[in-house]
Amino acid sequence: MTDSLERSPLPTPDQIKIFNRLIEAARLFPETELGRLGLLAISLMADADRQVKYLDVSKLDAEMIRITEQSYQTNAAYYGMRYELSAEMVQTTYEDYLKEFLDRLGPLNGERRILIPGSGMGRDAIIISGQGYRVEVIDSSKAMTDSTRALLTGRDIIVFNADIRQLQRDVFPHFDRSYKGILAESMFEHLNKDDVRSLVKDFWKLLVKEGVLLFRLKLSNSGKAYKVIDGIGERYFTSWTLAEIDELKNEMRETGYEVLEVAEPLAQHIDSIHEAGKEGVVSKPPFYTIMAKKKS
Ligand SMILES: C[S@@+](CC[C@H](N)C(=O)[O-])C[C@H]1O[C@@H](n2cnc3c(N)ncnc32)[C@H](O)[C@@H]1O
Repeated sequence: MTDSLERSPLPTPDQIKIFNRLIEAARLFPETELGRLGLLAISLMADADRQVKYLDVSKLDAEMIRITEQSYQTNAAYYGMRYELSAEMVQTTYEDYLKEFLDRLGPLNGERRILIPGSGMGRDAIIISGQGYRVEVIDSSKAMTDSTRALLTGRDIIVFNADIRQLQRDVFPHFDRSYKGILAESMFEHLNKDDVRSLVKDFWKLLVKEGVLLFRLKLSNSGKAYKVIDGIGERYFTSWTLAEIDELKNEMRETGYEVLEVAEPLAQHIDSIHEAGKEGVVSKPPFYTIMAKKKS
């Protein structure tokens, strides 16, 4: 398929299995000997290679999507501990978008339903349900949704273990159109642009009037697909140019959204680093956040 990145060899399946057990132990029993060993394993993996390579394609193919899904499935525990549920990420993501999303939802009265596609282990679901909302999460990785169920036991939450594109075809037409908010935080980066456009239109149908949609895209100069190899394994992403994002915002306005102002990432950052085909790039492309309100 695509050419591979030069890097130190990936861990073997057995090593991954042991590693995932340690991470699980760190999550469940952080105070024990085993838990501490897990935390040590995480800090060692934090140094694992993290390389980004732009590909000469603008679309993800079925194989790239399959490999990405597999990586989230195999290394869900690592993803959770290293990224999603780490204290640093909980703080950063709250400041970056979650606080604004919650503020925009307004006072908790009337409709309480919030949909979170690509929910991962459920970090945002935990915080949002803690505010009194009724959360419904969707994730294609069973390891992720199993963890969400475990983390949110006893809360008012519905978990769908499914590919959102499948749900969109089979289930969306039958959903109650009464979501107060939809938060697709970092998952659109794993979908092709046509799928994103079509989901954004369907989300509009699912929202109540004044309902809020927030999603994040990956920004680059080229708008090409890219590949990342790190402790989670091999994953493929879509990136958008600013011009493509402007076009998408216009389509959203035509659909009946009001696109709301949010801070943009530094243009300088994009120009200096995220160019198609550039070798040896170590940092990941920045997010571009889009928040919108259902107007009509
Ligand atoms: C980068 S992670 C983000 C997880 C979480 N939202 C966070 O902020 O840490 C992307 C998540 O989207 C899920 N995902 C990717 N493609 C998906 C699809 N087509 N349908 C549903 N979930 C998907 C993955 O399994 C993974 O849990």
